[in-house]
Amino acid sequence: MTVRDLPKVELHLHLEGAAPPALIRQLAFEKKIDLSRIFAEDGSYVFRDFQHFLQVYEAASSVLQTPEDFARLTRAILEHSAEQGVVYCESFLSPDFCGGGDVAAWREYLHAIQETASRAEAEFGITLRGIVTPVRHFGPEQAKRTALCAAETAGDWVVGLGMGGDETRGHQGDFAYAFDMAREAGLRLTTHAGEFGGPESVWEAIRDLNVERIGHGVRAIEDRALVAELVARQVTLEVCPGSNVALGLYPSLKDHPIQRLRDAGVRVTVSTDDPPFFHTTMQREYDMLHQTFGWQDSDFRALNQTAAEAAFCDADTKARILKLLETS
Ligand code: ADE
Ligand code: ZN
Repeated sequence: MTVRDLPKVELHLHLEGAAPPALIRQLAFEKKIDLSRIFAEDGSYVFRDFQHFLQVYEAASSVLQTPEDFARLTRAILEHSAEQGVVYCESFLSPDFCGGGDVAAWREYLHAIQETASRAEAEFGITLRGIVTPVRHFGPEQAKRTALCAAETAGDWVVGLGMGGDETRGHQGDFAYAFDMAREAGLRLTTHAGEFGGPESVWEAIRDLNVERIGHGVRAIEDRALVAELVARQVTLEVCPGSNVALGLYPSLKDHPIQRLRDAGVRVTVSTDDPPFFHTTMQREYDMLHQTFGWQDSDFRALNQTAAEAAFCDADTKARILKLLETS
C-alpha cells in the first residue's frame, strides 16, 4: 500500500546534498573536472561510511562554482521536491561552498538561489526558506565568517543558522560565538547532534548553543533523562530515517528509534537530508514508515503539523502552510 499523496513539510535538506548526480556529472563535464571516482556504475554517488560520505559530498560540491550553477541546482531540487508533494522546505545553504565565506560573494549566490526559488514557487507551488550552515569540521573561526554571512542576510528568506559536518570533531560549545551572533541577528537555531555524536552531543546542543531544533537527535534515545529534557523544552527533532540507515547508524528502519521517540512525546518530523546520496525521496520515507511502523494518514498529518509549527519562517507564511495542510 502507498500512503496517500499528502502535502509534506521538509525541514532538513542540504542543498548540495540534494544535487541530482546527473547535474553534478554535467557540471563536471562542462568544467572539465574528473569526478568519476565518486560515482558507481549505475551513475549514483558511492561512499563507504560517514567520513567518506563527507568527502564525496565535498567533491560533488566542488563543481558548483557560480551563482548560475546554484540556480540550476535549486530549480532541479524544487521541481523534484514539488513532485514528492513537498509544499514547504527549509534547506541548508553553505556560504563555504557559495563564495568561500565572503559576504559580498555570498549575497550574489543567495540572490540567484532566491530568484530561482520565487520562480519555482509560482510554477510548482513549493515555498523554500534558507538555513545558513557552518561546516563543523571547517572549525570555529570559519563558522564565525559563516555566521556573519548569515547575520548580514537575515530576514524573511534566510531564517536560521544550522551547523552540519563532522559531529565527531570538537564540541558544540566551540561554536557558541557563531550561534550567538546569529541569534542576535534574529535567526532561529538548529544543529546536527545525536547522529554520529552520542547523547552528550545533544546535551551540548541544548545547553551550550540553546538551539530550538536538532538535526537528527535520534541518539537521544540512549539517555532517558535527555528524552525527558527534549520533551520538557519542546525541542523538535529533524529526523532523517533513510539517511540514518544508509549511513549505517541502524541496520534497518525497524531498529530506528523514531517510533520510540514519538511515543515518549518528543516532537519528531521527517526529512530526507541528502536524498540522492541515500536513494530516498520524501514519498519513500513516508512509504517506509507506513510499512514498518504502520503509520497512517492521521499520523502523517500530525507529523506535518508539527513540522509546520517548528518551521523558522515568518508567521504569515506559517499560517498559510498550516491552512494548506488542514484543507487538503
Ligand atoms: N552534511 C550533509 N549531510 C550531513 C549529515 N547527515 N550529517 C552531518 N553533516 C551533513
Ligand atoms: Zn543533515
